[in-house]
Amino acid sequence: MRLSDTELQQYQQQGYLFFPNRFTAQEVTVLANAATEVYALDRDEVWRESNGAPRTAFAAHTYNEAFRRLAAHPRLIEPVMQILDGPVYMHQYKVNAKAAFDGEVWQWHQDYGTWQRDDAMPEPRAMNIAVFVDDVTAANGPLIFIPGSHRKGVQEAGHDLESTSYPLWTLDRDTVTALAQDGGLMAPIGDAGGVIMFHGNLVHASPPNISPFGRIIVYLSLCHVDNHIRRFKRAEWIAHRDFTAIEPLADDCLAALAREQCAA
Ligand code: SIN
Ligand code: MN
Repeated sequence: MRLSDTELQQYQQQGYLFFPNRFTAQEVTVLANAATEVYALDRDEVWRESNGAPRTAFAAHTYNEAFRRLAAHPRLIEPVMQILDGPVYMHQYKVNAKAAFDGEVWQWHQDYGTWQRDDAMPEPRAMNIAVFVDDVTAANGPLIFIPGSHRKGVQEAGHDLESTSYPLWTLDRDTVTALAQDGGLMAPIGDAGGVIMFHGNLVHASPPNISPFGRIIVYLSLCHVDNHIRRFKRAEWIAHRDFTAIEPLADDCLAALAREQCAA
């Protein structure tokens, strides 16, 4: 799958692209079942909210077959290779739940702000993909972007170790207000199977999930292989140290797994 010139321009301008229905219902079911499996595991990589609900399963592609395949899916990896202009490796992989009623906030931040400060990633030559495993609605804690904010570079940030179970470099209210007055706010919502690609410097957040419906999104954070991190302060399963270029799998890799699971 190649991005068109119009899509590339939109990405440069807005900092993100949204593709509804990139994965079929069958592929989504494989991922939803995989998420249930990983959240049931008692492992260091699986983080919970302060109330015990699952929040994030880091590095799930290293211990779950469906997530391993998603991590090399051509519908995700090929357009990122096109945008970043070359081979990419997996810097971070997370399966983020936002549990019904219990899923907590992700404060305003830029992912590259963390990758630069904590991991010494040289340049923002890295980006995120979000894959909707559940329907994402206005009510269940969607991602909210400030369009165009990636063009303003890395913003001042403070290290928030308290608001949630996960430490994050967060932006203060004045910074967010100024950026949003300029770029507005946008929350791409849609059915399970949708995909967002967004720039490492795009300012984003997500509100708590007050709804009775869960919201699982898988995030692949991909980095050009030449731009690999230089500092190894965080756990290997949070900021990976395997800089091997990802070889995209076949387009039907998840559908094939669904067939294997049915036959078993
Ligand atoms: C993130 O920004 O890294 C996660 C946000 C979310 O899952 O809502
Ligand atoms: Mn983020």
